[in-house]
Amino acid sequence: MIPSIEWTENGVRLLDQTRLPLEETYLLADSYQQVANAIKGMIVRGAPAIGVSAAMGVALGVKQSSASDLAALKPEFEHICSVLAATRPTAVNLFWAIERMSTRFAELAAQPGMTLEGIRSSLIREALQMHEEDIATCRALGAHGAPLLPGEGGVLTHCNAGALATCGYGTALGVIRGAVERGHKIQVYADETRPFLQGARLTAWELMHDGIPTTVICDNMAASLMRRGKIKAVVVGADRIAANGDVANKIGTYGVAILAREHGIPFFVAAPWSTIDMETATGEDIPIEERPAIEVTHHAGKQLTPSGVGVENPAFDVTPARYVSAIITEKGVLRAPYSESLRNLEPAAAFK
Ligand code: MRU
Repeated sequence: MIPSIEWTENGVRLLDQTRLPLEETYLLADSYQQVANAIKGMIVRGAPAIGVSAAMGVALGVKQSSASDLAALKPEFEHICSVLAATRPTAVNLFWAIERMSTRFAELAAQPGMTLEGIRSSLIREALQMHEEDIATCRALGAHGAPLLPGEGGVLTHCNAGALATCGYGTALGVIRGAVERGHKIQVYADETRPFLQGARLTAWELMHDGIPTTVICDNMAASLMRRGKIKAVVVGADRIAANGDVANKIGTYGVAILAREHGIPFFVAAPWSTIDMETATGEDIPIEERPAIEVTHHAGKQLTPSGVGVENPAFDVTPARYVSAIITEKGVLRAPYSESLRNLEPAAAFK
């Protein structure tokens, strides 16, 4: 399995996703500030991977803190969390992970006789547990989602919701892996996913690594392929799912969902419970990250557009729940109306 994120004695080791597929290099983020920079700079990306990296960042910050008592550690802890929380606004997994580390910190701090050493090692254990749980979650998603995919034929995915975007196996790609492991003969079509090219660079790289047949298409080719009958299903990941089932995911997902509806093709969203935000009522309330214009105007250091042209670069869009055929979670497959199916699942997911 591709180790996208690893805890080491010296810091958090991250596979540098800005350099794939041409270079397989690792970055050692040896302070919580470096972990925050790595998240901001897309060295590590994808909602679950962002969450677990941030949790490790919190553990690293506390490990390296020079605080000599709890009174000094508490404000430092809050500062570390706020720096990590300010990295990327859309993927709710980031805030879920920080919240989980904060809850654990509060529990530990409330224990009589707890030492700073005890707090440090318990927070590291919590982050490592989140890492392990994420892989198990992805495998469960894969098992639940696999039967939804065709026994044979093309499956389109957008962006990268794979092993690289998680701690291993992936969400949307986990469903594809689950189907392939169960004997489905799937041809993956990977939208290149302008401007950051997560599909062309990352999805193609990791699926080829596993020997899963993969074809990259430019984003504007999906409609034509659907019309020609080459796509039997679409499966994508999510950065945040609102309480009514609206889905924020990589920019372009909304267009793919509309195309799928027009062509009568099922559109599936695969995401762990940590991506579901019951506090956010609808997609309208999901904050959408705006990324630097240079990601659109340049590629690999080369300018593509006339200097000074206006640019918009929203990193995500929202697909209304009515376009979503099913939401695949580690707890099972949810169908519309999502406001009900999500609410019904919530107590069962109280382990979060
Ligand atoms: O900007 P990115 O690369 O972090 O965006 C990633 C996506 O949109 C993924 O589809 C999503 O996070 C799900 S990852 C399992």
